[in-house]
This record gives sequence, C-alpha cells and structure tokens, in this order.
Amino acid sequence: MPKGMSYEEFKESLSDHDARRRVLCKDDRPFHVLLSQQFGRPDIDRLCDTATAIRRLDRHREGRGFLRAVLSGYRVMHLFSQPSTRTAQSFLAGADKLGATSRTVTDLSTSSFAKGESVADAVRTLSSFFDAIVVRHHEDDFATQAAWALSSSARPIPVISAGSGRSQHVTQSLLDVYTLRYSFADRGGIEGKTILIIGDISRNRAARSLAYLMTKYRQPRVYFVSPRDYVPDGDLLDYLKKHEIEVRIHERLETMLREHGRQIDAMYITRLQQEWDEGGPPSELGSSEAYVLKPEYRELIRPDCVLMHPLPRVNELPDDWEDHPGFVVWRQVRNGMWIRAAVFATVHGADEEIRARARRLDLL
Ligand code: CP
Repeated sequence: MPKGMSYEEFKESLSDHDARRRVLCKDDRPFHVLLSQQFGRPDIDRLCDTATAIRRLDRHREGRGFLRAVLSGYRVMHLFSQPSTRTAQSFLAGADKLGATSRTVTDLSTSSFAKGESVADAVRTLSSFFDAIVVRHHEDDFATQAAWALSSSARPIPVISAGSGRSQHVTQSLLDVYTLRYSFADRGGIEGKTILIIGDISRNRAARSLAYLMTKYRQPRVYFVSPRDYVPDGDLLDYLKKHEIEVRIHERLETMLREHGRQIDAMYITRLQQEWDEGGPPSELGSSEAYVLKPEYRELIRPDCVLMHPLPRVNELPDDWEDHPGFVVWRQVRNGMWIRAAVFATVHGADEEIRARARRLDLL
C-alpha cells in the first residue's frame, strides 16, 4: 500500500481493479481477503488446487506430517462479533491442519472495544501477538478498516473477512465455487452454467459474494428469486452488467422454476436474513412459502441440478431434499475447511510449496 494512504483513499481503491490489487495483494497473491471482486480467475484456480492438495495430503501419511509443519509457529486470532458455527469452526480446523495455533474472541464486550478503543489500535495490538486476523463483524467496513490500519503499520499482517455485515462473505463464496467446480467437473466446469440464487439478496452477504465471484467465469447466467424489498442492489447489478452476465429477477420461486427450471444448473438456496429486520428478528423465523423449496418442484428442475445452501437453514430447504442427486450441502460444509486452510496457506505464501509436495506424491 502506498505510504501515507488515507482510509478514504484505501476504501476508494477497492472499487478499481488495479488499485485493489495494489492494496490487497502482496507479491501478486491475495494478502488481505475482503471481497470476491479481488480474486482473479488464476487466483481462484490456484486456491482451489491448493485446497485439493491439502485435502489429499491430509489423507496421506507423509502428506499429513508435511502439512502440520507448514504453518508451525503461526498464531491466528479469530475475532467473531456475530454468531457462527461453520465459518468459525472451519477456520479453526483449517488452521489446525497446517499446524498453526488459534485463539478466539467472541464477546467483544470483554475486550477494550468496550472502553472505546479504536479498530486501528485494537488490531495493531493484536498484530504484536498474532500472524493473521480472521474477523466476522456486524459492520460492513470493520475488516476493511482493520486491513487499512495494519497495512499502514510497521507490522502488517493479513486480515481475512469471515463475514462483513450485509456486504460480503468472501470465503463462503470461495468454498461455494470450489464445490461448484467439483460438481461440474464432468460437465465442462462452471463456464456457461445457470445459477439461481434465492433469498433476500441485498442484505445476504453469502449470496452477494457468490454473484460477484460468478463474473470470473465465462458466460454464466445468474438468476435471482428475491422479495421485492431485497432485490439485488444497484452496485451488484452494475457489476454483473459490466461483466456481461445475463441476469433475471423473479419475486416467486415457483414462477422462476416454471419458466426456467429445466435450464438451471445449480440452485443456491438461502434463509431470509431476519436478524437485520428493523426492531430485531420476528419471534417465528423462516421463509414465506414463495421462497421454500416444495416437493412438487422436483418435476420442474433437472435431476442433475446442483442444490446448495450456505447454512444455517430454517424452513426453506426441507430435509426431504437430501436424497436429491444434486444435494451437495454437506460437501460445502466440509469444503469450507479445505478452502480456509488454502486461504491461510496463500496469504502466508506457502501455497506453492503445498501444491508442489502434492504433485511429488502424485496426489495432484
Ligand atoms: N455459512 C455460514 O456463514 O455459517 P455460520 O454463520 O454458521 O458461520
């Protein structure tokens, strides 16, 4: 990052391709991990190959021993101001796989934020004890502020977003494309596929991050089913348009499936994000029937349609769907660990070494 860059300049640079790479990359590889847009196609392919290498090395006697030494001595701080099961535990497990040690803070009222400490002072303090910070925070810009503060300091360490307010959940989208890549391995990959994303898109960080990441593939179609008040926001739609992605938006799932169901290659179902409702979430959580996957919809989609959900789910993806041939939700969960281990390896510059060892053992 250029010396003396203000936070406003840093934030502004995130909307420009070249400027973004200058502030978020080191030696031409991702360093801070904040946004789907920051990943180029070669970055994604390398990250997925690294995740596969880690997954296969972990099953191999010599490979497992090698992995445990890759980040031996590294310490990771996991700072989670919002609830999490999958993301938090898969980051911790991913760090374990590479031999790093972790500490977690989940109740920020026990930290000096409660005494008014700034984001900059807090993360600079943490950088004295840790080699990376993983952060989930209810404010969209918390991770960005942390990345800027650390890049401005004498001890820059990577900041990895584990979910930023309503805006982005970048590592979720990376594990989602890793899962899609596997699902479409015998069908020509993700290129040219039609992905339907269901939920309140404008405030669903996982849905938004996945839509942004789809632009890195050749000619996909991105369709949305969304309540009228939460249709994709202008920034996302402009980005998809700039990348010449065909977009359709419907308000009801049934209408979308009746018109386009046979053409859809993957459905990404999400719960409504009611924790953001004004006045707090309603006492009864769950989607209205317009966003629930009903049994009769099996007739409207192809048997090879891939069914995904970032979880947690409420009522929108009933258990009955688990026997559908395209149901890959539990594979997504497991892939979260491999992708997050690959993210740690990448930001610490250890990814090439991992892929090379996997190749040497004939695992890649
Ligand atoms: N997918 C996801 O972010 O799940 P958690 O909220 O449990 O981390």
